[in-house]
Amino acid sequence: MNHRVEAVESDGVQPLADREFEQIRRLAHRTFGLDLKPGKEELVSARLRRLVRDGGFHTFQDYYKNVVADRTGAALLAMIDALATNHTSFLREADHFEFLRQTVVPVLARRDPVEIWCAACSTGEEVWTLAMVLNEAMPGKRIRITASDISNKALRCAERAAYPVARCQGVPPTWMSRYFVADARPATAYRVTPAIRALAAFRRINLVEPYSWQRPFPVIFCRNVMIYFDSATQEKVVAGLASQLEPGGYLFVGHAESLARVSHSLEYVKPAVYRKPDREGKWSKSS
Ligand SMILES: C[S@@+](CC[C@H](N)C(=O)[O-])C[C@H]1O[C@@H](n2cnc3c(N)ncnc32)[C@H](O)[C@@H]1O
Repeated sequence: MNHRVEAVESDGVQPLADREFEQIRRLAHRTFGLDLKPGKEELVSARLRRLVRDGGFHTFQDYYKNVVADRTGAALLAMIDALATNHTSFLREADHFEFLRQTVVPVLARRDPVEIWCAACSTGEEVWTLAMVLNEAMPGKRIRITASDISNKALRCAERAAYPVARCQGVPPTWMSRYFVADARPATAYRVTPAIRALAAFRRINLVEPYSWQRPFPVIFCRNVMIYFDSATQEKVVAGLASQLEPGGYLFVGHAESLARVSHSLEYVKPAVYRKPDREGKWSKSS
């Protein structure tokens, strides 16, 4: 049987036409930087289909018109939520946390409080990993993690900090007992303890729109989001992040996001770690 016809029959939504894909591609690029290359038609169709159907539309064109016309912005936010990839995990790209512990923590030791921005934090596993690593490395230190994402849905999940058991696999047992509380016996989910939750505050930030902070940060994590942007957008986003870094501050990006093809003012330290030159504009020797 023809699958396209079958799809129309089952939920009454017409298949995504090339013109409709192009409209959605442009809107996603303009509003949140997503670079939907040719070949992503099926992904777009699969991720937006439920919104099209639940909105009572029969075509992606009608759905698109509604998103553009909705002055509340709610329809656009729902579209962004559906199109964005939220995949994340505790201790993801673990060598970054080792580098943080061994090389960056000694530099931060004189700070009070220690402030970090975790941008594009998704559902929070990265934020809580940072909180636990810093708490272990600097016991008793005041730590403030500002975490942000474009997605309100992801931010709500991050702030709640409760994760199904399967998502906690890979978290060291000592951390599980020290920093998580089970919801039941046997557990179906674990929630990060209030003491760790108190170390982070959340804010919605779209990295492709203007934003500002009162003070620059000594450390910014912004991992696995720029991979979805084209080079021009990456360049703009990195410039924004660099402007929010203190001289000598560190930027961590995802390992799949080399900045090699992007023009920027930062020093390469090691794979996926960059540093802003110090106040005299000098590069550091090592780390
Ligand atoms: C794959 S997750 C990365 C999560 C985490 N940083 C990690 O490395 O595991 C990408 C996140 O980027 C967010 N995102 C996508 N576009 C964004 C934008 N323009 N501004 C801010 N966040 C964005 C998505 O909502 C998603 O939560």
